[in-house]
Amino acid sequence: MSSSLPEDLSKLGIHDSSALFTPSQVGLAKMLVEMGQAHVFRHWPGPGVDDGEKIAFFDQVAKLDSSYPGGLASYIKNARELLADSKAGKNPFDGFTPSVPTGEVLTFGNENFNNFEEIGVREARKAAFVLVAGGLGERLGYNGIKVALPSQTTTGTCFLQHYIESVLALQEASSKLAEDVQAQIPFVIMTSDDTHVRTEQLLESNSYFGMQPTQVKLLKQEKVACLEDNDARLALDPNNKYRIQTKPHGHGDVHSLLYSSGLLKEWQTAGLRWVLFFQDTNGLLFKAIPSALGVSSARGFHVNSLAVPRKAKEAIGGITKLTHEDGRTMVINVEYNQLDPLLRATGHPDGDANCETGFSPFPGNINQLILDLGPYIEELQKTGGAIKEFVNPKYKDATKTSFKSSTRLECMMQDYPKTLPPTARVGFTVMDTWLAYAPVKNNPEDAAKVPKGNPYHSATSGEMAIYRANSLILRKAGVQVEDPVTEVFNGQEVEVWPRIVWQPKWGLTFSEVKRKVRGSSSVSQKSTLVLNGKNIVVEDLSLDGALVVNARDDAEEVKVEGVVKNKGWRLESVDYKDASVPEEIRIRGFKINKMEQLEKNF
Ligand code: UTP
Repeated sequence: MSSSLPEDLSKLGIHDSSALFTPSQVGLAKMLVEMGQAHVFRHWPGPGVDDGEKIAFFDQVAKLDSSYPGGLASYIKNARELLADSKAGKNPFDGFTPSVPTGEVLTFGNENFNNFEEIGVREARKAAFVLVAGGLGERLGYNGIKVALPSQTTTGTCFLQHYIESVLALQEASSKLAEDVQAQIPFVIMTSDDTHVRTEQLLESNSYFGMQPTQVKLLKQEKVACLEDNDARLALDPNNKYRIQTKPHGHGDVHSLLYSSGLLKEWQTAGLRWVLFFQDTNGLLFKAIPSALGVSSARGFHVNSLAVPRKAKEAIGGITKLTHEDGRTMVINVEYNQLDPLLRATGHPDGDANCETGFSPFPGNINQLILDLGPYIEELQKTGGAIKEFVNPKYKDATKTSFKSSTRLECMMQDYPKTLPPTARVGFTVMDTWLAYAPVKNNPEDAAKVPKGNPYHSATSGEMAIYRANSLILRKAGVQVEDPVTEVFNGQEVEVWPRIVWQPKWGLTFSEVKRKVRGSSSVSQKSTLVLNGKNIVVEDLSLDGALVVNARDDAEEVKVEGVVKNKGWRLESVDYKDASVPEEIRIRGFKINKMEQLEKNF
């Protein structure tokens, strides 16, 4: 960096002996000019005009500089390289050959699965949970934050409550199993300016859903600077020439944030071993957590990606082993649009195709990761948590010289293994989709356009998936659960199973559900069964209607039995365009008409 200031900066009053700007602000200005960004000052009037805005500009630049590993200069440098690669059409997987990595494929409810669940519950007290919840959710288009949405509307429990109750249930079960004092499992939420305040309010107005406030930490990710051309010139905010336009950097930020927060070291000192990353709207995830954590522990995986069977060409990434000509290897998520060309270019003329199992040989990534804390810290000490980024500019034309709108660098949390040494143990755990994955990402209109056979990933399908999973689990535990009927809500054809819902503490693992289901019970399709409480046993119950059981935790074993028959709770269609219906409800396309129920309180 040159020591003397460019003359035009001096003319703007930005100089070493300035009374208005601090030395560090002057330093930032120099850095910007050095990095080819003098244009950001071009519209500045001389000293004495808009001084407050100018200082605010430097405040923003300081924030952009400090929140990126290596600072803003590093960001600009990385952007130039990635934009040049993008312009040249360079394939990030050049020189790599894909193959199927090794991992664990689980079958729900068999001995192997139950063993892993037990190991997982035992390990849970040595785990920390990290929810990435900074996303805008543009595809869903919901006005609130996604974690505040009901995961299902039978009880109305929102995603955040469900997640917290699941962690609390794990915490209790784990400490009990290990005959140890009750652990306090740390729960981190990564937020962004789009979600931070509302996430905080949701927690505070609900007493943290039963968690100790000190157990919960919010880490806010910052946005990154937008770029207006291939030279990575910073884009100014169209509404304020004293601000740089910014956009989200992606969920990959979670690694550098965790690292810089000091939490990882704290956890290591406290004897923790695992960090589990998960996303904002998957109501099934915690059914997969105990067994997957068990796999991590039993197999000694440093990185364990949760996965589901993937149909060829399905729009989820495939977990792939990549071997480079120079001997480098990595196990990594390859996005579905990159997997097909990569396979074709490496001797698989059919590209992304199903194998004899009827599925792609590459497991489908659902982006829930379990990392071993020790190797994770070691790696982050080298990288600072910086994740390999990508850029996705929308070019105006084939010359690729200008963009339709500004772009920015992005990074994804699942790209963490890209920098790992070949000795790292990177694996995956495959579960049935019905058990593990039903995110709420798409608005009703887009979901209705999803090609037949592909998942809707809507509020409608996310809710129905919870009923289906609970029905299938009870079936496997010996309850006669009637078959579902098919109905159409918001233009989406879904299976409607009995609306069976339980709190995580009732049935955290399959063995626990089996212990609490006895004799010969049946549940008809039109039924609703809500189990609120820990010590409830379902025994010789014949349910055709709605039954809600509320039992206090200190209640002795509460038996639910006999014949229960009433009009029950009926699903009634609503139109998602009907503004008189609350948004949380109409994005599902149905509401619940509670006609008649039996409610038992113990
Ligand atoms: P999604 O792929 O669902 O993206 O993110 P999104 O931004 O929330 O939604 P769209 O793409 O605009 O529709 C997966 C997870 O990563 C989080 C989301 O909150 C979600 O849990 N995320 C995403 C972040 O935490 N930060 C980001 O910058 C982006």
